Amino acid sequence: MKKKLLTAIFGGMLVLAACGGGDDGGGDGGGEESASGGGDTGAGEELYQQNCASCHGGDLSGGAGPSLENVGDDYDASEIVDIIQNGKGSMPAQNVEQGDAEEIADWLVQQ
Ligand code: HEC
Repeated sequence: MKKKLLTAIFGGMLVLAACGGGDDGGGDGGGEESASGGGDTGAGEELYQQNCASCHGGDLSGGAGPSLENVGDDYDASEIVDIIQNGKGSMPAQNVEQGDAEEIADWLVQQ
């Protein structure tokens, strides 16, 4: 009886630990976990509007920066994440978290 109880508690702790680990969007490493950050498809677009639209246009048609309408033809998502975080040519590096940069990149390549 007592043993069963202990097993139940221990099992419960394992489950809790597993959930907790998945939730901390620490930023580094958990690259494939962007879906856990809400998963709603609107996030990438919203983040784009907040961080990129001022230079690349609200409709991706460009402005101070080049059009990004067909950016998926030239870059894959990981290259776009790199551009966001490190800048490129006259584009300054953007202060965007890894997970957010991935959301933006995933959204951009689909446009
Ligand atoms: C301060 C203005 C500015 C902001 C803000 C900005 N960019 Fe840029 N971006 C540029 C400029 C200018 C270039 C052209 C760089 C070059 O090649 O010299 C560029 C280039 C790029 C390119 C490469 C395009 C190509 O065809 O080579 C990508 C991809 C890109 N930006 C994505 C983003 C994303 C995503 C964001 C938001 C996180 C963002 N940029 C925010 C100015 C900006």
